Amino acid sequence: SILANGALPLAGKRVIVTSGPTHEPIDPVRYIANRSSGKQGHAIAGALASLGADVQLVSGPVAINDPIGVTTTHVETAQQMRDAVEALLPADAAIFAAAVADWRSEKSSCEKMKKDGSSGPLQLALVENPDILAGIGHHSTKRPPLVIGFAAETEKVLENARTKLTGKGADAIVANDVSTDSGIGGSGVMGGDRNRITLITASGADTWPEMSKAEVARKLAAWVADQTG
Ligand code: CTP
Ligand code: CA
Repeated sequence: SILANGALPLAGKRVIVTSGPTHEPIDPVRYIANRSSGKQGHAIAGALASLGADVQLVSGPVAINDPIGVTTTHVETAQQMRDAVEALLPADAAIFAAAVADWRSEKSSCEKMKKDGSSGPLQLALVENPDILAGIGHHSTKRPPLVIGFAAETEKVLENARTKLTGKGADAIVANDVSTDSGIGGSGVMGGDRNRITLITASGADTWPEMSKAEVARKLAAWVADQTG
């Protein structure tokens, strides 16, 4: 992955990566979140750095270490993740691997909410979070030349991923099948170390063999280098 002139292929390129879940507070001790270990997004950030990129990782709360050679900004909520990404523009590429919580509680209580067994089901009003990828993919002035999203699907994987490609203004979508019958491990890819993805662009769909998340990261970083060169 070193060019003939000895330079790393992504030297001088700035790449933003989002990873991990977001946590949307309900009260000081409770939150809404998606399942995400951050393993795939963090591995991508590290692989891009290995190719010489200036990698700006925006990570939600995860239990894994910051990747080496990467600048990491830690956030909790989707709104914070969106603000952090926007503050890091402009960039040569942006990769949205985070599992952003789609909804947040309209109100979050300053005090811990107390159970009340008598008054029926607790009502929580949920409002939609901003779509960070779509905001950047359709950015009027600072859209990075290469915008890559992810699509975790349990059914109609390619169809749903294509809808995300066009709807969010992305150049590519990394689609993965997270259904429990996808054949990777016992419970799909969530939290696991392996992944099987299909890279979807306007020109077609390329399904990669099942491989480790580290290998997916290296292959995707190499693809980014090809596109960005
Ligand atoms: N994404 C984002 N901001 C959001 C929701 C999603 O940036 N508020 C990004 C994810 O990081 C991913 C892509 O959009 O790159 C697709 O995420 P996904 O959850 O699969 O799609 P949604 O548009 O949220 O649709 P749904 O969950 O209803 O399938
Ligand atoms: Ca979602």
